[in-house]
Amino acid sequence: MAVSLQVDQLSLVYRSSGQQDTHAFGPLSFAIVAGEFVSVVGPSGCGKSSLLECVSGLMQATSGEVRLDGQLINGTVPAQVGMVFQQDASFPWLTVRDNIAFGLRHGRQSVPAADITARVDQAIVQVGLSGFENHYPSQLSGGMRQRVSIARTLVMRPQLLLLDEPFAALDPQTRLLMGEELLGLWRQSAASVLLITHSLEEAVLLSDRVLVMSARPGRLKHELRTGWSRERDAGIVSDPRFAQHVNTLWSVLRNEAQAAMRM
Ligand SMILES: Nc1ncnc2c1ncn2[C@@H]1O[C@H](COP(=O)(O)OP(=O)(O)O)[C@@H](O)[C@H]1O
Ligand SMILES: [Mg+2]
Repeated sequence: MAVSLQVDQLSLVYRSSGQQDTHAFGPLSFAIVAGEFVSVVGPSGCGKSSLLECVSGLMQATSGEVRLDGQLINGTVPAQVGMVFQQDASFPWLTVRDNIAFGLRHGRQSVPAADITARVDQAIVQVGLSGFENHYPSQLSGGMRQRVSIARTLVMRPQLLLLDEPFAALDPQTRLLMGEELLGLWRQSAASVLLITHSLEEAVLLSDRVLVMSARPGRLKHELRTGWSRERDAGIVSDPRFAQHVNTLWSVLRNEAQAAMRM
C-alpha cells in the first residue's frame, strides 16, 4: 500500500550560536500522491538534503508540517519510510549480507528468519552484488558500498522511499542500470518515491513529476510533468520529449545555479 505525502509551508533555519543563521529552504509546499515518483533538482546548497531530512522526520523543521496519509510526521521516522543517503551508510564491521539484513533483524518489523534470507538474497541480485555477500565494505568500491546501502533500505519494503542522490558515487553505466532497477522496483511495489538528484536526465527519465528548487533558501520554482507511462524504461531517452523536458529544466535551473554560485 503506497502512501501519500503532504508538505505544507515547510521551512528550515539552522541556528548555531556565534554564527549567522542559515535559512536552508522554504517555505515550500507540495504533495505526492500515493504511488507517484517525484524528483527534486536544484542548485548545490539550496537545501535539498535538509528538505529530505525534514520530510523523513529525522529533523524538525522550523515551521510548517509534513503528513503521511494525513498523519503528522514529527520527531521520528515512520516505519513506512525508507531512506538512502548521499554518502554510503553501510556498517564497516558487518558483511554485505549482514548489512542488508540488519534492518530486518533489528527493526520494528518482526520478520521470520526464512523470509529475511529470501528478501536479502533477492536484494543482493537486484543491486548486482552477487558473489560479494561475505565481503566487508572496506573490500568494496565506493559504488558497491552505496549499492549495499540501497539494498539495505529496499529489503524493508518502504511505502515511501526518500533518496538523496543515491547514485552520485556510481559510474554512468551502473547509474543507468540502477535507475532502471529502481523503476522496476517502484512498479512492483507501488511505493511513492521522492528522489533528489543533480542529474536532470535522471530526473526526467525516472519521474512522473520533477520539482525545481530555487537557490537557497530553496523554494519551488517550477514543476514539470513528464507524462511517461508507468511501463517506461531507459528507452525513452530517444523520445523527442525527453530532450525537451531536459532543456526546460535546464533553462529554469540556469539562473538559479548562477545565483547559487554568487552566494
Ligand atoms: N547541520 C547544519 N548546520 C548549519 N548549516 C547547515 C547544516 N546542514 C546544512 N547546512 C547549510 O544549509 C544549506 C543547505 O544545505 P543542504 O540541505 O545540504 O543543501 P543541498 O543538499 O541542496 O546541497 C547550505 O547552505 C548548508 O551549508
Ligand atoms: Mg545534498
